[in-house]
Amino acid sequence: MHSTVVTIVGARPQFIKAAAVSRVLRAGGQCREILVHTGQHYDDNMSQVFFDELEIPTPDFHLGIGSGSHGAQTGRMLEQIEQVLLKTRPDWVLVYGDTNSTLAGALAAAKLHMPVAHVEAGLRSFNRRMPEELNRVAADHVSDLLLAPTEAAIRNLQREGIPDEHIHLVGDVMYDAALYYGKKAEAQSRVLQRLHLSSGNYVLTTIHRAENTDSPQRLDAIFSALCRFAADVPVVLPLHPRTRAALERSGQLATVRQSLLVIEPQGYLDMVMLEKHARLIATDSGGVQKEAYFHQVPCITLRDETEWVELVESGWNSLVPPTHAESIVERMRAALRATERPVETLGLYGAGEASQRISKLLSAAA
Ligand code: UD1
Ligand code: UDP
Repeated sequence: MHSTVVTIVGARPQFIKAAAVSRVLRAGGQCREILVHTGQHYDDNMSQVFFDELEIPTPDFHLGIGSGSHGAQTGRMLEQIEQVLLKTRPDWVLVYGDTNSTLAGALAAAKLHMPVAHVEAGLRSFNRRMPEELNRVAADHVSDLLLAPTEAAIRNLQREGIPDEHIHLVGDVMYDAALYYGKKAEAQSRVLQRLHLSSGNYVLTTIHRAENTDSPQRLDAIFSALCRFAADVPVVLPLHPRTRAALERSGQLATVRQSLLVIEPQGYLDMVMLEKHARLIATDSGGVQKEAYFHQVPCITLRDETEWVELVESGWNSLVPPTHAESIVERMRAALRATERPVETLGLYGAGEASQRISKLLSAAA
């Protein structure tokens, strides 16, 4: 018998994760997948480009929710997802990560007593001021199948009293995506030529976390540091719309454009290419931190804490709380000077089979 899985996505990293899982889920023939796009991200370069490049099927339901305050955005999603679930009556509702789309999908399903499977279960920053922390804690506690990427995530779930039989260590679906699309990126992407960049000679940076963009002090510390640093080494910035808006508000956008190589948000293949050939990555993104490790590029994370603790423990990632420009510049310069690379530690996120494991669990449990 086929099980019906309703997959809920809405934000950029979820398209990439769902691309990896969806491909395997649909190829297995055991599950019928119905894809729901909440519309949380809607610019072509934040959404459609991923469907085209990664061959994600066209969503069966596009809710067109758009931007808004947390309550308004999540509320509108809840209302509409409930209608979709009542219409489709799935065996599983599959949600990814920690965005407002994740929370709305998990909550709408749980209230209808429909089983929820959560990919990236168990990650914690232990910082409840982050919207993502609230979303992931709530999603985990209404989920029936907790698909954890790491041992640390498993321990977090156990500590919160979630029964072992609901928890599965599957590895990280972003590693599956990195393996599958990494080769395609090398073959197809021309981004380095287009931007006149040479391999190993630039720093790649992405910033979008609310705690950084919505704090004038942090925003200023980060961008003052990056502008200063760019005098030594080119700094490439694919600019997230939240950050573009914050820099416009603070009056810094023109200076940033003069000092850094500011580009539009990139498609996944060009982004992977930029990551693979960077000398250093400086980011506050969850996904980009891990991709730095997948492609063995040293990374500085401009945050107070990270959910991906094994990256810091293995030496591939250093946390730099972005409170002062001087300390950021100093840490970035030190990272560039470092001649020793971290010891090669492969396998922190599984063997590239997370999607297969997830697909098997969803098929078996129907
Ligand atoms: C969201 C997630 C965050 C994730 C990130 C991935 C939540 C609470 N946050 O943050 O966890 O890391 O996505 O990128 O769910 N905007 C556009 N065009 C778009 C999308 C957004 O202009 O296509 C602008 C709007 O001004 C919007 C702002 O960006 O208000 C923020 O978008 P939103 O989806 O609310 O949060 P993100 O910062 O993208
Ligand atoms: N990404 C991309 N283009 C960009 C920036 C990021 O394709 O311009 C990809 C990146 O490679 C990673 C994912 O988007 O796979 C990370 O998403 P994001 O940083 O928006 O969110 P987070 O992972 O922090 O939730």
